[in-house]
Amino acid sequence: MNTVIYPGSFDPVTLGHIDLIKRASKMFDKVIVCILNNSTKKSSLFSIDERVNMLCEVIKEFDNVSVDSYQGLLVDYAKEHNVNIIIRGLREITDFASELQMAQANHLVSPEIETLFMATNPKYSFLSSSMVKEYASYGMSVKDFVPEIVRVKIEEKYK
Ligand code: PNS
Repeated sequence: MNTVIYPGSFDPVTLGHIDLIKRASKMFDKVIVCILNNSTKKSSLFSIDERVNMLCEVIKEFDNVSVDSYQGLLVDYAKEHNVNIIIRGLREITDFASELQMAQANHLVSPEIETLFMATNPKYSFLSSSMVKEYASYGMSVKDFVPEIVRVKIEEKYK
């Protein structure tokens, strides 16, 4: 059984993330979407519980996708769950440097764990959770960027 972990901060989940989850769910037997802490991102808009709840709602349509969260290293989560494949999306060239660095660091500390990169759907290559928050904070609709349930929640935050 091929299980993969799709890690991220998902603050909040965007249509780009969902597109990747959908494609991965067709390629692998099981996809675990895991919310982890990105120490370079100093503050978050949504709590971990809020992010888990939103993700659970939007992945309901995929039978082989589950959601989890973890307060530790990604490689430790992978080992605890006996998963040795991590998938990450690459939006454009600037993602590549940091993603490669993370994949290589994870590989150095845990050589049994592989990182696979998936090209982001070009429709969403400009999209990030940070951009969504920025637009929403100025009162702009983010309906084209996030699922409806997330749009409602984010607009509540900035009301
Ligand atoms: O969506 P993001 O913020 O780009 O995801 C980055 C994330 C959360 C996957 C990464 O920061 C991570 O793996 N955090 C867990 C802690 C960890 O394992 N750090 C070592 C790799 S930098």
